[in-house]
Amino acid sequence: MAHISDLHVTSRFFDADLASKLVDTLNTGGYDLVVISGDLTMEGHVGEYEKAQALLDGIEPRKLIVPGNHDSFNKGYEIFEEMFHTRKPVFSGEGISICGMDSSEPDLNEGKLGRHNYNLIRERLSGDDLKFLVLHHHIIPVPGTGRENNILMDSGDVLKLCVDLDVNFVLSGHRHLPWVWKLNHTYFVTAGTACTRRLKGRSYPSFNRFEIDGGRAVMYEINMDTMEEYERIRT
Ligand SMILES: [Fe+2]
Ligand SMILES: [Fe+2]
Repeated sequence: MAHISDLHVTSRFFDADLASKLVDTLNTGGYDLVVISGDLTMEGHVGEYEKAQALLDGIEPRKLIVPGNHDSFNKGYEIFEEMFHTRKPVFSGEGISICGMDSSEPDLNEGKLGRHNYNLIRERLSGDDLKFLVLHHHIIPVPGTGRENNILMDSGDVLKLCVDLDVNFVLSGHRHLPWVWKLNHTYFVTAGTACTRRLKGRSYPSFNRFEIDGGRAVMYEINMDTMEEYERIRT
């Protein structure tokens, strides 16, 4: 499985060459599923969505996509639903359960899941599978990304929910800097930006690859400039 994020198609930092390298990598790397944790666009306009969709159409493996804060600007959340059918996608099979949620709020950078969604997460992630929660906003602050004002508003309650459900992985984006925290049994994985130069300092565009077998997982971060792979998680 691949975890990519923050494509920001049409932003001035979008790198078309990197994007086609990413698509080639995903199509030839033996991936079964590509999880995309939001920020497909920059302002959520329909023209940007069309460009993002054209890019995503080139990715052959099955995709699971949630919106980011940028996708919900300018009523973009409506276009998202129109194009991708749901803002809360779900996948279950091959021993894994994935619950995608929309953590964006119209025209705000801050995110929120909201109490009304907790039961849905409980229903979707209560089995014995390897469990993934996917949302755009990070739940735990990411070092080196400025003073925190964009974290999920209800992060404390969502943290408790993840720990109670023994969620194995929480996959986010938003910060454009790859990072992993572990709390109790849960890994909180923030993916970098896959194909933009909207970076922090001298960091690099990247995405994550999960190799999953028999309830165990290994995660590698892949540097999109050099294609070097760094092992970050082994369970
Ligand atoms: Fe972003
Ligand atoms: Fe974002």
